[in-house]
Amino acid sequence: MEDAKLLFNGKEYSLPVIEGTECEHGLDISQLRAQSGAITLDSGYGNTGSCKSAITFIDGEKGILHYRGYPIEELARKSNFVEVSFLLIYGHLPSKQELDNFRNQLTYHSLIHEDMKKFFEGFPRTAHPMGVLSAMVASLSAFYPDTDYQTDVNLNVIRLLAKLKTIVAFSYKKSIGQPYIYPQNHLSFTADLIHMLFAVPTEPYEVPKVLEDALDLLLILHADHEQNCSTSTVRMAGSSQANLFATISAGINALWGPLHGGANQEVLEMLENIRQDGSDYQKYINQAKDKKSGFKLMGFGHRVYKNFDPRARILKEAADKGLSQLGVNDPLLDIAKNLERVALEDSFFVERKLYPNVDFYSGIIYRAMNIPTNMFTVMFALGRLPGWIAQWKEMRDDPGTRIYRPRQIYTGKVNQKYIPVEKR
Ligand code: CMC
Repeated sequence: MEDAKLLFNGKEYSLPVIEGTECEHGLDISQLRAQSGAITLDSGYGNTGSCKSAITFIDGEKGILHYRGYPIEELARKSNFVEVSFLLIYGHLPSKQELDNFRNQLTYHSLIHEDMKKFFEGFPRTAHPMGVLSAMVASLSAFYPDTDYQTDVNLNVIRLLAKLKTIVAFSYKKSIGQPYIYPQNHLSFTADLIHMLFAVPTEPYEVPKVLEDALDLLLILHADHEQNCSTSTVRMAGSSQANLFATISAGINALWGPLHGGANQEVLEMLENIRQDGSDYQKYINQAKDKKSGFKLMGFGHRVYKNFDPRARILKEAADKGLSQLGVNDPLLDIAKNLERVALEDSFFVERKLYPNVDFYSGIIYRAMNIPTNMFTVMFALGRLPGWIAQWKEMRDDPGTRIYRPRQIYTGKVNQKYIPVEKR
């Protein structure tokens, strides 16, 4: 394709056009400042591609999501979280032997160092588990220092994937004052997590298959989502060549915010407020439309999707099925469906193309599984981990990677004269 032309300050500049494998186009401005002295300005990065990536493809207009070329609907139906993690990180579906080996490694490395248990004891019981999670992941760097990227990377990737679920479960047990339950090597990855969350030492606990399947689906749907806020944070922190654990800890903190992964907790709290307020969902729709109210319909809208988020579509169906299999009749599911129905007919939401996103129905499923509200974003982090690792590895393995360092347009004061403090 012919270069794009930019006219600036009386001169013409050629901008090469980059085409992706799904035919998206980008204008390469990497020489723009060197040639013209100008930079581009794109607050919130809505028009900026920060990298080329072969991991995840999203078409937000059509509501399409692919991991490594496979549609999310197919992976959700046929695959499992461990296999999807391998696919994202290593770029292909594993052979039987590769999968067995990967599974064994994740099982073998799932214990955390006994000294790490003492860290949990230092946190107040009221600590938000996302704060605990990011601190514990950063702490892994003290136990497994990666002094040399090439030598340590593969083992530390496995360690992180294997140990995060143990850290997740221990942080939950700490928050409810129950003894920690150790990983069990005979259980699948997801069943082991459920066992560590819900078993107690005093009686046997068999993991219900319906819980295992529901959680596995949620983890698959969260596994990657290209250059979102937390993944960009991972790439940004990792571009300084900070170690894997410090880098992922930064991603966990970025995920925590209510506009990103923290929205799943906010959705549930919003639905609960509506229920306690007499289930008058129209009142909340009106509030969301009134900009002065400061209220947003949590779980609605997306920077990239201007159509149904395909993950929300899968989760709505899973919520219906899962709740009936678990024998749970949750009034919040009805409120959520009514909100969705009314919002999708309302011109405010229609004109702005605001559809339910992944966080809208996930919380209802977590709640039916007895996972407490403040753990929802932690479950999101566990699901997103293979995506963060894949994106970080892709960046580190690319010889063309430079430290991430955006520019700015300075708008502050100029030519200030320093006045000594006694004269100010
Ligand atoms: N409720 C009411 N109005 C909304 C909402 C909402 N949830 N989301 C966007 N809008 C309005 C917004 O006020 C703006 O209106 P106008 O054009 O009149 O100024 C318009 O829609 C465009 O929104 P925006 O804020 O410019 O969009 P953005 O791309 O900057 O933000 C978002 C995307 C997800 C942060 C935002 O839609 C939002 O805050 N949603 C609620 C929080 C949420 O559910 N977050 C989870 C995102 S999905 C999971 C993940 O990947 O983290």
